[in-house]
Amino acid sequence: MNKDVLYKDLIPKPVSIKRQEGLLCFGVETKICVQPGCDQALKAAEHIAQTLRSLTGFPLPIEICTEEPKQGCLFFTSQGARGELGEEGYSLTVSAGLVTIRAHTFPGFFFAGQTLRQLLPPGEGPWQLEGVEIIDYPRFAWRGAMLDVARSFFSVDEVKRVIDLLAGYKFNRLHLHLSDDQGWRIMIDSWPNLALHGGSGAVEGGRAGYYTKDQYREIAAYAQRRAMVLVPEIDLPGHTNAALAAYPELNRDGIAPEPYRGIQVGFSTLAVEKEITYQFVRDVLGELAELTPGPYLHVGGDEAHSTTLEEYKLFLERVHTIVAETGKTLVGWDEIIQAGLEPTDLVQIWRRETKAQAAAGRGAKLIMSPCHHIYLDMKYNPETVLGQDWAALIEVKDAYGWDPVTVYPGLAEEDILGVEAPLWAETLRTIKDVEYMLFPRILGVAEIGWSPREGRSWEEYRQRLAAHEPRLEVQGVHFYRSPQVPWKGR
Ligand code: ACM
Repeated sequence: MNKDVLYKDLIPKPVSIKRQEGLLCFGVETKICVQPGCDQALKAAEHIAQTLRSLTGFPLPIEICTEEPKQGCLFFTSQGARGELGEEGYSLTVSAGLVTIRAHTFPGFFFAGQTLRQLLPPGEGPWQLEGVEIIDYPRFAWRGAMLDVARSFFSVDEVKRVIDLLAGYKFNRLHLHLSDDQGWRIMIDSWPNLALHGGSGAVEGGRAGYYTKDQYREIAAYAQRRAMVLVPEIDLPGHTNAALAAYPELNRDGIAPEPYRGIQVGFSTLAVEKEITYQFVRDVLGELAELTPGPYLHVGGDEAHSTTLEEYKLFLERVHTIVAETGKTLVGWDEIIQAGLEPTDLVQIWRRETKAQAAAGRGAKLIMSPCHHIYLDMKYNPETVLGQDWAALIEVKDAYGWDPVTVYPGLAEEDILGVEAPLWAETLRTIKDVEYMLFPRILGVAEIGWSPREGRSWEEYRQRLAAHEPRLEVQGVHFYRSPQVPWKGR
């Protein structure tokens, strides 16, 4: 394979990459060496070793090395890691017979492993790495995707598949939209009918189901081992028909509605004037906080068209207190801006016209999910069978060609925590459907979230993207072969 192509194909593009002399050929003797006492490196090395063993067929034993190794190994160490690498960065150097990976933390080592994987060919050897020095760290701390498991349910194994595919592109947040009008997907012991009743619903033609607490913990732990934080969302006070159908007392009139299988929004609301509602919110968020290793609780807040603004503000005030009691950080869709923000809040900007600048002005950090660029449930073009088109048609170029700082007026780099691509599931039924809407647009989101803004260009990116065709193919990913991308296999 052409060396230059090999090194230029990394997605997301690293901060700095320099060719240098050297070569490491994998063989039966190749080892993985880890600096003593560096558990974070060891954990990542074990994960990377497994990937490389199944790829190359070589044994690749892991050794703790008291002396700096010279030859025939991949060496993981925090010694000499530069300060600029931060929490998630790494350096990766290939010299004669030696690969050295330096980082400060588990995520840094893990992401170096993802780069290493991309430096190797997609499916068949030669299993060798050419001389290079890469220094790399992310532009933004939050690089996420959201999976809507409420409209249609996705199994634990399917969610793990999504995690694996995203981790390969250095995503570090998976937001699970766990409740909506059509379904409730997580067991809450103090309100069991949410899952038992609400879990049996779905959008018309969609799949029902819910996660037990053990299954949810399993997903969270699986994500953690891939440097990814699970962000659970319970959408409040609207988007709650499934909860209202399970518990009549949460309704304003005390009467449970029928389960809902349509795709309208904005018609449902918890009885924000009733005290029982706050007991419900406290119980649900309390149990969810206890289950969730990450620091975030997403409380939705979008499209609450059945509450007045006054009611909405009072409700959000109570929710703020409840989330604070759990010790977690509140995340909400951009409608929460109108309720009054705490400076610790994270606001997920999604509407085309929204007051992003106002949220930043109150100290909140922004997660950028502009619906007209990275709502990945939007169709690629008018012929796309899956998806919707109310926000935009989003071709691969559109999903790549925007910037989180300039997409709304008046924002600065430091206002922005990162990017997240939501995938709503009204029209999705299978994991293949999920893959088709995510890929390849999600690779562009990965690059927007990670790579420096300078030097990003569609013309250059689309060449690199084309080189990921065989990589997606060996993983069995069902993806959209956009005519905008010069795929080789078309
Ligand atoms: C949303 O799309 N309702 C956040």
